[in-house]
Amino acid sequence: MEKILDVISKQVMEALKACGYDEKYGKVTLSNRPDLCEYQCNGAMAAAKEYKCAPFQIADRVAEQLQGNEMFESAESVKPGFLNLKVSPEYLAEYLRQMEADEQRLGCSKCEHPKTILIDYGGPNVAKPLHVGHLRSAIIGESVKRIGRFMGHNMIGDVHLGDWGLQMGLIITELKARKPELVYFDENYTGEYPEEPPFTISELEEIYPAASGKSKEDEAYKEAAMEATYELQHGRAGYGALLNHILNVSVSDLKRNYENLNVSFELWKGESDAQPYIPDMVEKMKKDGYAYISEGALVVDVKEDTDTKEIPPCMILKSDGASLYNTTDLATIVWRMQDYRPDEIIYVVDKRQELYFTQVFRCARKTGLVGPETELTFLGFGTMNGKDGKPFKTREGGVMRLEYLVSGINEEMYKKIADNHTVEEAEGRETAKTVALSAIKYGDLSNQASKDYIFDIERFTSFEGNTGPYILYTIVRMKSILKKYQELRELPEHAAILPPHSDSEKSLMLELGKFNGMMENAFEEKAPHKVCAYIYDLANAFNHFYHETKIMAEPDEMIQAGYIKLLELTKKALEICIDVLGFEAPERM
Ligand code: ARG
Repeated sequence: MEKILDVISKQVMEALKACGYDEKYGKVTLSNRPDLCEYQCNGAMAAAKEYKCAPFQIADRVAEQLQGNEMFESAESVKPGFLNLKVSPEYLAEYLRQMEADEQRLGCSKCEHPKTILIDYGGPNVAKPLHVGHLRSAIIGESVKRIGRFMGHNMIGDVHLGDWGLQMGLIITELKARKPELVYFDENYTGEYPEEPPFTISELEEIYPAASGKSKEDEAYKEAAMEATYELQHGRAGYGALLNHILNVSVSDLKRNYENLNVSFELWKGESDAQPYIPDMVEKMKKDGYAYISEGALVVDVKEDTDTKEIPPCMILKSDGASLYNTTDLATIVWRMQDYRPDEIIYVVDKRQELYFTQVFRCARKTGLVGPETELTFLGFGTMNGKDGKPFKTREGGVMRLEYLVSGINEEMYKKIADNHTVEEAEGRETAKTVALSAIKYGDLSNQASKDYIFDIERFTSFEGNTGPYILYTIVRMKSILKKYQELRELPEHAAILPPHSDSEKSLMLELGKFNGMMENAFEEKAPHKVCAYIYDLANAFNHFYHETKIMAEPDEMIQAGYIKLLELTKKALEICIDVLGFEAPERM
């Protein structure tokens, strides 16, 4: 469905043309003086230069031309040369009826040329618990993926596990110290390895920090871990079997955690999956003359003449021949291109890795791993800080585990809900979980991703203000009005959204009319915060309308039915939006 702004622009363009002016001056925007008008066109200001006259002379003629146009309630020329527009109530109602007829998409057309977009987000590290740093990547990535999917793109999420580094060697070393008798450590063993893992997730989670602590104090221990990493990476069978156990145990735990966040991935690939692609990739980079030895290491220059700051070379292999984080990311691009031919790869990663990704992207382009038809996008996010403005920590000052953070907020939310009403414990807990997730996600997503933000639990969990719970509360209110209405009567057969009866109703309708344009723009800019801003405005417009309108006491059956239809449309728009943000609304709260 055409965007309302485009429909209006077309009318203004035609009017310009009819007056003998170039139609290119007819672009209409939302009004920045909502007290005066709903839409405006400032084209006469620019056109005046071309036609060597005063802007208002043009605006006057166009306004004149638009008189009687059914789409407008008013079209006024205002000095020095603005065109102020109000859309006609009938047209607005008709537009909303068309939205409503398109039940699933509310008039937001799918893109004409669907792209295959791979989105790299989450990025958890195997055997290390998820911490809040991983939360943002998961929340933002999931939302961008859903927005893209809603727009009709083929979005493929890849979790890109950190499963290939010293942490693996550390775990193996610690396990060996604890259970040296395990068959995985017997170099002469040639049989099958057991299917049962030799540890549980809680043991595994305890093993890693223990090993990491020891390696910082004990040089020999660290050597052993590095040696184990090397052996693992060079095909030692027992260690490979252990890696699989570590992966399996860790991945099922990660899946459970992500499920609680309403986050899921199409691909569960990891850094280790990229390793087989490294040798050929490196060979080719050398053969093509891109990679050369500098101070013992193999590097590719990636600086460009236009750089204003120093961009160091991209290191491909260390002097001992070991590969690095870079090498893995480059080799990951190799299989992503080979298996998926994506039009774009988006990386949702902490913005402190921006320089690193600049190097990786440039290197990938220069060496031909990706062609010009594939876009590489870095979607860097800022730090989530505590109320003290410093990176989020536990009360004791340690790294906050995601699980604890989430269960803490769930608990807080449950108390609030139980304080408010009498609910069954089980229902209350379920509702608390749903509302808490909206608090966390909305609190994050309503900020522009690249900015740091303060994780303020009290503010995020409030039922008032610009918060997730406020949005859910609004939806729940709508659900309860609908229920009440349905208990009293059925919607009459010819029920339809009617032209607005009040300013607050018109404002709500105008907000609804922005839905398709907003979604398109949120995808273009990969900006979930635009969806948040929209639903906040929409929820406010609805609540304003609700407070000024006696919906249930309306005596005219058709007017009342029109209100209900409008309410249903608003509810649907809100529900689509929270779905792309990655949360949902409970039945009551
Ligand atoms: N595992 C990394 C971390 O915890 C994030 C991975 C980001 N994605 C990537 N392709 N490098 O910092």
